[in-house]
This record gives sequence, structure tokens and C-alpha cells, in this order.
Amino acid sequence: MRPQEIIAVKRDGGELSREHIDAFIAGVCDGSWADYQISAMVMAMFTRGLNPDEQNALTFAMLHSGEVLDLSDIPLPKADKHSTGGVGDKTSLIIAPILAACGIAVPMISGRGLGHTGGTLDKLESIAGYDVNLTTDRFRRIIETCGFAMSGQTADIAPADKKLYALRDATATVPYIPLIVASIMSKKLAEGLDALVLDVKTGSGAFMPNIEDSIRLAEAMVQTGRNFGVRTEAVVSEMGRPLGRYAGNICEVYECVKILRNEPLELAEPTRELSIELAARAIVLAGIENDLVSARSLAEAKLGSGAAYERFAENCRLQDGNIDSIPTSDPFAGKGLSTLEIKAERSGWLETADALAIGEAVVAIGGGRVHAEDGIDFEVGFECFAEVGSEVREGDLLGVLYSRTVEDAECVSEKLRGAYKISETPVTPSPLVSGIV
Ligand code: URA
Repeated sequence: MRPQEIIAVKRDGGELSREHIDAFIAGVCDGSWADYQISAMVMAMFTRGLNPDEQNALTFAMLHSGEVLDLSDIPLPKADKHSTGGVGDKTSLIIAPILAACGIAVPMISGRGLGHTGGTLDKLESIAGYDVNLTTDRFRRIIETCGFAMSGQTADIAPADKKLYALRDATATVPYIPLIVASIMSKKLAEGLDALVLDVKTGSGAFMPNIEDSIRLAEAMVQTGRNFGVRTEAVVSEMGRPLGRYAGNICEVYECVKILRNEPLELAEPTRELSIELAARAIVLAGIENDLVSARSLAEAKLGSGAAYERFAENCRLQDGNIDSIPTSDPFAGKGLSTLEIKAERSGWLETADALAIGEAVVAIGGGRVHAEDGIDFEVGFECFAEVGSEVREGDLLGVLYSRTVEDAECVSEKLRGAYKISETPVTPSPLVSGIV
């Protein structure tokens, strides 16, 4: 069938067969479908919808458009965590070493930040020398040696998604759940996992700001994981405010290392708590513990004993990262950065520290990227000084932006001040985890 005939099926509201979808994905990969035909097809999918069978067939075809890792010769359960992305969302750097220390192999393939959400690869690359461009062979050897490896998506993993995502981005067809599910799950399922924990964010800084949409996305991803034989669970977690103390790159690595080394750090507790929660769920799904209470204790013990930190340090060495380049105290000190202090304009209770506005401010000063090809300034970022729900007095410091120049900070000062709202009455912050699927 010619591309236009397959497009017409969906344009007219019909159901695509597995053969139609296989032909579409084959055409995306071998270049026989032109960009305008691919774009027309995703727009037809977006407007007419995909039923669960079509969504599964699309995920399957995208997954098999490239290599599916076979790690069966590593005699450990394989598990991973994937987050839909947020501001200050840094838990991967804590969860992977915890799981590795528990005897789980973690083949973590991550992405870069785009827009206001940060990316694990950028955070890792803020460690001097850290190599995220691993060949499959090296990726496998690092997992065998230290239990986890963290790499970018190679050209062989779900190549159809790379092309489709770029065209969806350019044609306003990203925010449709079946397309998102096929995109994310085709990449995650290519890791050859036994178990997968999804952290679906909700709130202003999330990809799906609205809780109902976040739950629907979580349900669809969990069902897809299970359809493909992977034990999958999702946690819906709060992203109306940044996670933990820092948002940026090397500053976030610093926060993770403080947690991995059991060193006190104010306002970092939500990062630690969410990391333990997600790790514990992966530990149960991987069959290492039978229940969450024991799994949480095991995750805590691996942090407490320093076993997780040892795995992190070993991984850094194996991926050519210089662990000594990670700051051991204030991550912004001595870099000649300008500071913009955000102070409470009145006394009351902190009601909002808007993750979207804070994330956008970090991008605007160079700590994130607007276009996929943009470079990143790893040293700039934002530091939170007050938690949502806490009582503040007029003039108290709420947060500080660290930028390369005063002019950079001035451009976002209004946005950042608008990110904070203070209530005259006590505020109960929304819970860190609002649902489990
Ligand atoms: N992230 C992805 O990888 N794909 C999507 O479609 C949306 C977010």
C-alpha cells in the first residue's frame, strides 16, 4: 500500500492494522515516507485517535525499529526507573546506585533536557570527563562491573522515535497520550528489562500539568509495559514545585552526592524520600524483596552503609568522570556568578514556588536548552531556601538564582518573583506522591 492510502485510513477515522503500522514505521526508518507524509500521519493519529491495539502495534514497531538489548547473560534481575521529567528532578543519580548495590542490573538509557525540564545526561556531563556516549559493548561491561551504566540513546535504539519525535515537536502533535506512550516505552523496552518504575510528574513543571492527564498517562504506560512482559508500576509525583534544593546541573549532582554520602543538606529531603520510594518499588518488582516496607529498609541501608555511594564512585570512574570535580561544599561558590535573591514580600506561609517559572528561568540563563542543539552552562542554577508550606517573614530569602551575568538575571527577575506566592493563612503542601498505578 502507498503511504497516502494508509494515511487515508486514519484520516477517515478507520482502524490501522498491524501491517499498516509496520509499513509506516518501516517507511519512517528507510526514508521511503517523506517528512510531510509522516507529519500528516501523526496529525491524523492525533486528531482521530489510536485505540489500545493500535497503540500497542505502534510501540512494538517502534521498539523493533532498532536494537533490543539482550542482557540475559548478566545473571541479575534488570530494572530501571524513568521519569517524565521535571525541575530539580535528579533521582536517577541516586536510584541507579542504590539498585546496583541491591544486586539489580540497571541499564539506564537517558535523555537530555529540553525546555524547562532538565535531563540526566546533562547532569552527568557536568561531571568533568563523564562519558554518556557508550557503545553497547562498553555499556554492558560497565553494568557487569558496577551494576549500572548511564548512557544516551544510541542510533540503534528505537531509531523511528528520533525521527517521529522531531516531526511531532514541529507539528504540535506531542501532547497525545498514545503517541507519548509509544515514544517513551519503545525506548525503555529496548533496554531488555524485567522491571520498570515510572515516575510520572504532575503540576506546573510537568510535561502533563493536570493530575487526571498524568494518571491517564501513567495507566497507559503501565499497561503497555505489562503487555510487553515487563513488571511495571508508576508513581505520580509532585512537580508543581521544584524537587529538593537545587535546579541546574552540577548543583543537582552535588545534592545527589550529599544524599549518597549521608551528609545533611537542608531542603534535600524530598529528593531523598522520592528516590527511596522509587527504588523500593523497583526492588520489589525485581524480586529482591517481597514487600515495600522491607524494600524501603534495604534501600535506606544501602544509602546508610555507603554501599550506594561506592557504586556511584565506581561508575564515575568507569565512565571516565572525575569525581573530584563534583563540589564538596556550596556548588556555586568561587565561580564568579552573579546572584539574584528572591525575598518574601510579606509574612505568611509559602503557598507556591512555581516549578515551571523556576525551570524556565534556569533555561533562560543558559542552564537548560530551548533547541536540541543548544549548549548548556553546567554551573548556573537556582537554589531554594524555603519549602512550600513553611512560615516565612517579610524579607526572608526564598531562593537565589546564580547566573553568568547580571543582565541574564535581570531578564528573568520578574518571572522569578512571580513564581512565589505567600498566603496569609497556613498552607498544606500537596503530597510528594499523589498516586500509584
Ligand atoms: N518524552 C518522549 O521521549 N517522548 C514523548 O513523546 C514525550 C516525552
